[in-house]
Amino acid sequence: MAPVQVTGTVLTIRQVDAYHAMTVVAPGIAERFKAGHFTAVAVGGAETSMLLRRCLSIHDVKPDYGGTVELVFSVQGRGTAWLADRRVRDSLDLVGPLGRPFPLPRDPVHCLLVGSGYGSAPLFPLADALQARGCRVDFILGAPSADRVFGALRARRMGETTTLTTDDGSLGMRGSVTDMLPHVIADSQADVVYACAPMAVLRSVAAVAARHGIPAMVSVEEAMACGIGVCMSCVLPVVGDDGITRLVRSCVDGPVFRGERVRFDDVGTIPFDALGAPGGRLAEAGP
Ligand SMILES: Cc1cc2nc3c(=O)[nH]c(=O)nc-3n(C[C@H](O)[C@H](O)[C@H](O)COP(=O)(O)OP(=O)(O)OC[C@H]3O[C@@H](n4cnc5c(N)ncnc54)[C@H](O)[C@@H]3O)c2cc1C
Ligand code: FES
Repeated sequence: MAPVQVTGTVLTIRQVDAYHAMTVVAPGIAERFKAGHFTAVAVGGAETSMLLRRCLSIHDVKPDYGGTVELVFSVQGRGTAWLADRRVRDSLDLVGPLGRPFPLPRDPVHCLLVGSGYGSAPLFPLADALQARGCRVDFILGAPSADRVFGALRARRMGETTTLTTDDGSLGMRGSVTDMLPHVIADSQADVVYACAPMAVLRSVAAVAARHGIPAMVSVEEAMACGIGVCMSCVLPVVGDDGITRLVRSCVDGPVFRGERVRFDDVGTIPFDALGAPGGRLAEAGP
């Protein structure tokens, strides 16, 4: 179903450790949602100079009031600071659900879900969907410090096992989620890894999964200006089924990709061998 633009009403907003969790009544988005979708939120109000929407993963949807969506965010700059100042009954302009959701396995396989910081938020509806298919779900969640590990309790309730990591050792094992990845892949006999985290972490997740011979589905976070495929601000080099690298838009072709297909080393560049690169494949092909 195509995304919709909705004027939602803020139902709740609360602080959860280092994050703000906001529930918005937005029936059109909730009914179309699948795990991995995100929404683009207008910030700043009618008179604002902040023209660009801010993209946030959808953490959860509920049937209440015809359909609510829950967002989890940390304050980074002006846009998210404005969002954090919203109060119950304020209106919010949302477009969604956007992007391609996480693909689900056909068979009841073992799935390892890896989240870093607020990247853990979209993994919970994914875990629900996987468990509904009979999949085993294990979690590794991490962050720089304990207050930035999102969803530890829920993961402990849902997961067969839950491994927590923090850079400063304030919760779980000291280190990053990728430090624990080889052990947990082995212990859980994972068939597939799903991850949502900063790019550097996704790169390591994809590499470790590849070394273990299992696929990794990674949800990337590239800076997005429009979120709907128009502006090309979010492109990254991805290898297609035909072996050819293309610059694809992470907002509409992603944000979920097969990890081994993303050329992490070349993100932010136009690789010389990418289709359409200056002096590259299109140039060779001639006019
Ligand atoms: C698909 C996707 C899902 C996301 N999910 C979440 C989430 O669930 N929770 C959360 O806290 N954050 C999430 N982010 C990051 C979030 O979009 C940025 O933190 C936010 O846009 C920052 O806006 P700002 O005005 O506060 O900061 P500023 O730094 O002032 O933003 C200025 C501009 O840069 C862009 N920008 C800045 N940082 C980022 C970033 N890290 N990623 C993308 N664009 C950025 C903004 O959209 C804006 O156009 C997600 C980003 C993407 C692309
Ligand atoms: S954010 Fe504009 S094309 Fe992807």
